[in-house]
Amino acid sequence: MKKVLVTGGAGYIGSHTVVTLMERGYHAIIVDNLDNSNAEVLNRINSIVGTKPDFIEGDVRDADVLDRVFSSYEIDGVIHFAGLKAVGESVEKPMRYYSNNVEGSISLLKAMDRHDCRKLVFSSSSTVYGDPVRVPITEDFPLSATNPYGQSKLMIETILRDLANANSQWQFTLLRYFNPVGAHASGLIGEDPNGIPNNLMPYIAQVAVGRLNKLNVFGDDYPTEDGTGVRDYIHVMDLADAHMQALLHFKPDHGCRAYNIGTGNGYSVLQMLQAFEKASGKDVPYSIEARRSGDIAESYANCELSKQEIDWVARRDLDQIMKDQWNWQSNNPNGYKD
Ligand code: NAD
Ligand code: UD1
Repeated sequence: MKKVLVTGGAGYIGSHTVVTLMERGYHAIIVDNLDNSNAEVLNRINSIVGTKPDFIEGDVRDADVLDRVFSSYEIDGVIHFAGLKAVGESVEKPMRYYSNNVEGSISLLKAMDRHDCRKLVFSSSSTVYGDPVRVPITEDFPLSATNPYGQSKLMIETILRDLANANSQWQFTLLRYFNPVGAHASGLIGEDPNGIPNNLMPYIAQVAVGRLNKLNVFGDDYPTEDGTGVRDYIHVMDLADAHMQALLHFKPDHGCRAYNIGTGNGYSVLQMLQAFEKASGKDVPYSIEARRSGDIAESYANCELSKQEIDWVARRDLDQIMKDQWNWQSNNPNGYKD
């Protein structure tokens, strides 16, 4: 059975990917320091798949932890989710981001090299396109970053490209996620942000269960159809499938390849709100507020390359996203703390 090390596997996208891996017969080994996750997720994965994934509580910056894992299991490949992702916090505490994300990735790559394991799927982000000159975005667009979180993703992408250029044994797939949303259809696992959510989808869902009073819509004067921001929202189980496809498509001359992981469709904030209300039967009060600093008007992907090269397309539509989001939130109004 193929063994896959999943760093950050207790987190939102990691846990859904672990379910998909285990259901396809892979042996998933999670390393996570639980900085932004809850060990309860392991029981929930057990309820879905019938087995608990192997779990090592530890930091990817700890070489001893990684050496122990690589020595105990013959790891075939790595999916690297571990990292911090809050844009605002990254501006306040840049070193926390460079240390966790960049130093963590370097520590992981060194351990992989020591143990002759050189296949890695990396969680990158559409944030590396900065403020794109037009949409849809293709992978050859210029890259830039406007905050330390985005910079950390760009730095890691650069490190991976340089390593692959220097040594053809390295095989890297960079998945640039657009906006991950939704939850596993069981309602047992989903996104459980700490504190007040920064992102739209968990914010809407928490208004619907009464944890928050109303949604603040950040700006209605963007050059979009209804004036609110437009994004490419991708179901987290489609994202999980993309990791599976990435693992299946490593090949000897692979080098370092980057793929957009989105649907190719853009939806506005108000369209998202209406779709959620329809799926949940709940009213979600909102008010129009000032633009959020650093926000862009429109972002959505061209996903032709991932279709051609790793045989992946998003299959779940907006109705499915909203249904699964509501199923998770209504069954777990307080996330894993319930
Ligand atoms: P998440 O916070 O739910 O998961 C990340 C996991 O990594 C958490 O369980 C956390 O405890 C763990 N972790 C953090 N630093 C660690 C360290 N140094 N050592 C070990 N474990 C550590 O986030 P997510 O939404 O699942 O995102 C996963 C990855 O995808 C991140 O790298 C993120 O930057 C990237 N990404 C996320 C989004 C998004 O909107 N969710 C979009 C684009 C890219
Ligand atoms: C944000 C990050 C981005 C990161 C991505 C991960 C910022 C500026 N950008 O992107 O770097 O890669 O998350 O998913 O934080 N909105 C509201 N009210 C809210 C929340 C959001 O109106 O309470 C609007 C936003 O203005 C935007 C849309 O909803 O138009 C989506 O916002 P969000 O979910 O935060 O994602 P991004 O801004 O795309």
